[in-house]
Amino acid sequence: MDGNGRWASRHGLPRAVGHERGVEALRRTVRAAQKLDLEYLTVYSFSTENWRRPVSEVSALFSLLKTFVNQDLARLKREGVRISVFGTRSGLPDDIAILLDKAVEQTRENTRFELGIAFNYGGREEVVRAIRLLSEDVKAGRIDPENINEHLLSERLDTSRFPDPDLVIRTGEEHRLSNFLIWQSAYAELLFMDVLWPEFGEAELQRAIETFSSRERRFGGLKSGAA
Ligand code: FPP
Repeated sequence: MDGNGRWASRHGLPRAVGHERGVEALRRTVRAAQKLDLEYLTVYSFSTENWRRPVSEVSALFSLLKTFVNQDLARLKREGVRISVFGTRSGLPDDIAILLDKAVEQTRENTRFELGIAFNYGGREEVVRAIRLLSEDVKAGRIDPENINEHLLSERLDTSRFPDPDLVIRTGEEHRLSNFLIWQSAYAELLFMDVLWPEFGEAELQRAIETFSSRERRFGGLKSGAA
């Protein structure tokens, strides 16, 4: 969800306002994803690298998360949305960690739509934690190192209940993954859109899906009909 800051400065507004508009774009996008019958959507809300931003901006992002959960949780719950949170709780203020747990807990029984919120998330950090879990199994004799495979690692990632993403969309004119779902995106289609996140909504999501549908996915195989 990149481009909040640039959107704000292009409109002569403080960066925090860009993030507020970003939350509105998030609401629109979750609604659009449900309408388009998508099953899973993961949003990158706060990366482990975002701690490098000024304290005032970090606390503005935390308070936006609070507002979002406080204002939207009851509705999301009613709509059948199950929330999962990806990332580490380490370093997060207690009230934020408690709020994230509440969002996960209160929507646990829902099955209509899966919303992943990557918060205090970094792909490499997630893989390291999964390796640590595997190492504990090895140390306890539950797993033979010879038997370690991709599946055993995937099972230990925060995203274990989610399928690998088919499509990764980055808004905001940059062309990189910035540590987002790096293991899971090995075969994802990548789409970099020039639109800034606060401008994103149903039309943009629809456009992204149309682009995705026109691509041919081979997963390392041959073009269909080429053999
Ligand atoms: C990137 O824009 C965006 C973020 C670092 C935060 C994204 C967060 C939200 C949309 C709101 C958080 C809400 C919830 C509910 C978790 P940027 O600031 O890097 O933009 P720039 O590159 O233009 O400066």
